[in-house]
Amino acid sequence: GDNGVLIRANTPAGLFYGVQTLLQLLPPQIYSQKPAGFEMILPQVEITDRPRYAYRGMHLDPCRHFFTVETTKNYIDYLAYHKLNKFHWHLTEDQGWRIEIKKYPKLTSVGSKRKRTMILDHNTSWKDGKYDTIPVEGFYTQEQIREIVQYAKERFIEVIPEIEMPGHSTAALASYPQLSCTGGPFEVLDRPGVTPDVYCAGNDSVFTFLKDVIDEVVELFPSKYIHIGGDECPKERWKNCEKCQRRMKEEGLENEHELQSWFITEMEKYINSKGRTIIGWSEIMEGGIAPNAILQSWLGVEAGVEAARQKHRVIMSPYQYLYFDGIYVDKAHRKMEPFGQTYCWTNSRKVYSFEPTPDTIPAEYQPYFIGAEATMWSEYIKTPEHLEYMLMPRVSALAEICWTERELKDYDDFADRMNKQYFRYDNLGVNYRIPPPVMPDTLIVGAEEMITIDNPTVATTVMYRTGNARDAVYTGPFSLHSDTVLYSWAINSGGRKSSIVKTVVRLKK
Ligand code: ACM
Ligand code: ZN
Repeated sequence: GDNGVLIRANTPAGLFYGVQTLLQLLPPQIYSQKPAGFEMILPQVEITDRPRYAYRGMHLDPCRHFFTVETTKNYIDYLAYHKLNKFHWHLTEDQGWRIEIKKYPKLTSVGSKRKRTMILDHNTSWKDGKYDTIPVEGFYTQEQIREIVQYAKERFIEVIPEIEMPGHSTAALASYPQLSCTGGPFEVLDRPGVTPDVYCAGNDSVFTFLKDVIDEVVELFPSKYIHIGGDECPKERWKNCEKCQRRMKEEGLENEHELQSWFITEMEKYINSKGRTIIGWSEIMEGGIAPNAILQSWLGVEAGVEAARQKHRVIMSPYQYLYFDGIYVDKAHRKMEPFGQTYCWTNSRKVYSFEPTPDTIPAEYQPYFIGAEATMWSEYIKTPEHLEYMLMPRVSALAEICWTERELKDYDDFADRMNKQYFRYDNLGVNYRIPPPVMPDTLIVGAEEMITIDNPTVATTVMYRTGNARDAVYTGPFSLHSDTVLYSWAINSGGRKSSIVKTVVRLKK
């Protein structure tokens, strides 16, 4: 109205998003810890809005590297600012078990600790890496988990715990080796990758253990969903295990993929009996998807399409678009960026281009696509600053593909609105990735030809350097009189630098 703000919604969550929109209408300083020195002028507008998808998710892996309660809460705040509503918390892995389970204390006294970690950089593959000597440990007590779940709830975010099975369970096997096919011993894994040792599918005590764990998990997490992993489970131990082979015979299973399907279905029955629904990664399609499972499609979109055709709900997370542990640039340009996965990479433009509901699928199956989620695996991510860098700004593009109807999507309009979003990030004080200048690797110019440096946002100033000259502020096109290497970068209002772009400039002969 003329002298006030009215926010109306059908649900409390809707009011919360209305407030987020209101904050976005105010000057970006409103996001500062100490907002001051600006006028609170609001445009007179009327906005009617609703999200396209019910599932708008962001994942976090505190296993490869551990993130404190405080860092996790900050992360949840960032999701809330972007109107995401699911926080997928990947709590168990080969490299660490991070959730206190009272009935099995060794999961944390043994399983949450490792002595060292393979050093990952731009060049080493994990097959020939060297190791550091830095211990990594940490887990969340049940009290801390309740605190985080409550914190998220106050921001209308549902915390979905992931308890991985049957693979990616070395930390649990190091704690309780009798849960494996061979009996061990094992150590908490100190490198990335996939290991052959997984929970034994023929051993009844494995199911007793996992059901006990689920009993404590459902007490801690009110979420409708429990993620059971299901990805990357090698079958070689099962092939050579008497107990696993006996199970296959007894249950009439043709192969080890069907044994995995049987395993997941056993756990699904139990989790369903608690009134919860399971989510599993792409590979739970192999050998047949469990009857009521939601599929999270990470190996491209194919598993998701197949699951929808079988009338299962689907969350889209294809690694080619939505793996935020991947660097922002293609592998050839990796040296300009902090270390990260290079088998996949994505930037805001790629994220924005992703369509969570494949348009090739018949209309009757389209409602099964309930939303999208980006992952944040932490093999390379050791600090809150690096975590913020990998999250922002591309999480803004994620927010839009989850929120905005297909026919309203417009990348140029999004990129224009991002100019303001960078100022909001500046005021939040987060270590977002400052967009560097957009320049070719090689530029061939005539002797008098002017060189332009393309700045993708008005939120930054561009700087450059050539040869032995000093750093200069870019104020407009310039010419060069010899072959040289041009370095350019952007700085934000706080003086922080983007990554540096290298351009080889050659004069036409
Ligand atoms: C996965 O990235 N292994 C789900
Ligand atoms: Zn076995």
